[in-house]
Amino acid sequence: MKHYLTINDLPSIKTAIQEAIALKSDPYNYKNLGAQKTLVMLFFNASLRTRLSTEKAAKHLGMEVIILNVTDAWQLEFDSGAVMNLNKSEHVKEAAQVISQYADVLAVRAFPNLKDKHKDASEWILTSFVKYATIPVVNMESATSHPLQALADAMTIEELKTKKRPKVVLSWAPHPKALPHAVANSFIEMMQSIDVDFSITHPEGYDLDPNIVKETPVSYLQEEALKTADFIYVKNWSNYNAYGENTSQCSSWMMTKGKLGSATFMHCLPVRRNVVVECSVLDSEQSAVIKQSNNRTYAAQLVLKKILENEE
Ligand code: CP
Repeated sequence: MKHYLTINDLPSIKTAIQEAIALKSDPYNYKNLGAQKTLVMLFFNASLRTRLSTEKAAKHLGMEVIILNVTDAWQLEFDSGAVMNLNKSEHVKEAAQVISQYADVLAVRAFPNLKDKHKDASEWILTSFVKYATIPVVNMESATSHPLQALADAMTIEELKTKKRPKVVLSWAPHPKALPHAVANSFIEMMQSIDVDFSITHPEGYDLDPNIVKETPVSYLQEEALKTADFIYVKNWSNYNAYGENTSQCSSWMMTKGKLGSATFMHCLPVRRNVVVECSVLDSEQSAVIKQSNNRTYAAQLVLKKILENEE
């Protein structure tokens, strides 16, 4: 594997899920694979899980890790041909090539601005690093996708499912801020790639990118959609059509014990208690969120392992 930008970069998604789960039983089994290799992680946005789990994953493989919050570096220009006479001090063209001298793998987190749909869809930050870096690039959540999260989520379903083809529902949740579509997008793509009975429920007006949803059933009736679910993945996203708007709080869409029934509750975290989901769900045995965050380490480890093996 050269880069990990979306889940479709995995040679086989189903095999990757099994291989990532297998890494958990002996995390240091490949501790020499990354010896004398360096992972640079570049953060344009905050992170708790991605930052720590990816660093832990790299260290399981024997890699050195360098982390740079871009707010501590020179402001980057991304437009080619820009006259850089304002506040941008360095072009990504130099920055990416410079980092490539210090690192063997570059991981980037860069959220969308949620103002310009076409610019966000172009993945201008991530693709600039792919274009100018001379080393593999890993997506640690970009404008439109979060493939490390999706792999961890698929692992969690695989580990917890009690039937061959569980019913999985992605349910929109209220949130005070306008949030990106990346987690939902990658989760949808992942569910479309594995053997589950998958559907989406959200209030009217919160339809996601039709090029991602494709033929997946969508319902505007949450309680109806959640009936008989085995896994309920709860996530907020802002309006896709009225791009980036978050006009309706729809507080009645918060996940409750009553709506959850006997299903397993999933969320990528961080989560706002008693806004997105009530405490009694998060604090119950039915919540898989801590397991999901643990699986982030092994999802990242599988991705780094595939990249390092490709380089050998
Ligand atoms: N789920 C997730 O990506 O968490 P962080 O934003 O804390 O990395």
